[in-house]
Amino acid sequence: MQNKVRKAVFPAAGLGTRFLPATKAMPKEMLPLVDKPLIQYGVEEAMHSGMNNIIIVTGRGKSAIEDHFDVSFELEHLLETRGKKDLLAQVRGISDMIDVSYVRQKEALGLGHAVLRAKELVGPESFAVVLSDDVIDAEIPCLRQLLDIHEFYGASVVALMEVDGPEISSYGVVDADPVAHNGLGGRLYRVHNLVEKPKASEAPSNLAIIGRYILTPDIFNSIESIPPGSGGEIQLTDALKHLLRQKPIYGLKFEGKRYDAGDKLGFLKATVEFALKRHDLGGPFRDYLKSQTI
Ligand code: UTP
Repeated sequence: MQNKVRKAVFPAAGLGTRFLPATKAMPKEMLPLVDKPLIQYGVEEAMHSGMNNIIIVTGRGKSAIEDHFDVSFELEHLLETRGKKDLLAQVRGISDMIDVSYVRQKEALGLGHAVLRAKELVGPESFAVVLSDDVIDAEIPCLRQLLDIHEFYGASVVALMEVDGPEISSYGVVDADPVAHNGLGGRLYRVHNLVEKPKASEAPSNLAIIGRYILTPDIFNSIESIPPGSGGEIQLTDALKHLLRQKPIYGLKFEGKRYDAGDKLGFLKATVEFALKRHDLGGPFRDYLKSQTI
């Protein structure tokens, strides 16, 4: 029971420069993938992994996120009087099942800094961090996969993905050795070092950290102990490196497909693939795509 994780932190205060001008007045976490904002995919993943205590770190345009997870009496009343039961259930569903709190990051000083803003709300327990512009399509939710490792080892766990070529320098990268663990087929690693955005020639491996973490509460002390790093920002990767001096950290090559929806091309790929999988849209959308001469 002591390793049960109840809280998930969603940093959503980044500047989203890769998606300008759409992100000028609206956080990228509110960009809709087919018909749901990116952050809702992450919140549903947390919910399906057993966490319903959601902490959102907001910056500019925070009201759009707050309104999205709030009850909308006017809209619900309208849908009710028009007999739109399915839509009503969709609009109500999520806000009924989760408890959302908000904390503000006034300046985008880095992911580590954003996570630190949640310290008081998290308290002395392990918690998840979800970067909702990383959308993950998986049979078993990625967070659930990480939680299983956390519950076994009681340690922090990061999600890993193989990235080959120059792209690796856009990520935090681990130096890690495989750990034998039943049923994981060599996908679990013990982390020995982490580097934020290394040059491709200096990357310690092709194992990149993507936007899902389970962290023990001592990460807050590590964040407070480190100076600004890459890009002048307080980096979560640097805090993990600091934490590694005292505590083990594991990495799991998760099962599933990750889309970088904070990037225009990644967002388009996710939109097409998610739309094709929808039972209500997939057929006509596929026909439309086939009719396009490229
Ligand atoms: P990114 O690295 O994607 O940065 O942040 P960004 O500023 O949002 O976007 P680009 O690169 O300029 O296009 C990863 C996650 O960390 C959050 C972002 O909202 C995103 O979910 N973040 C980042 C913060 O909450 N605060 C920060 O200071 C930095």
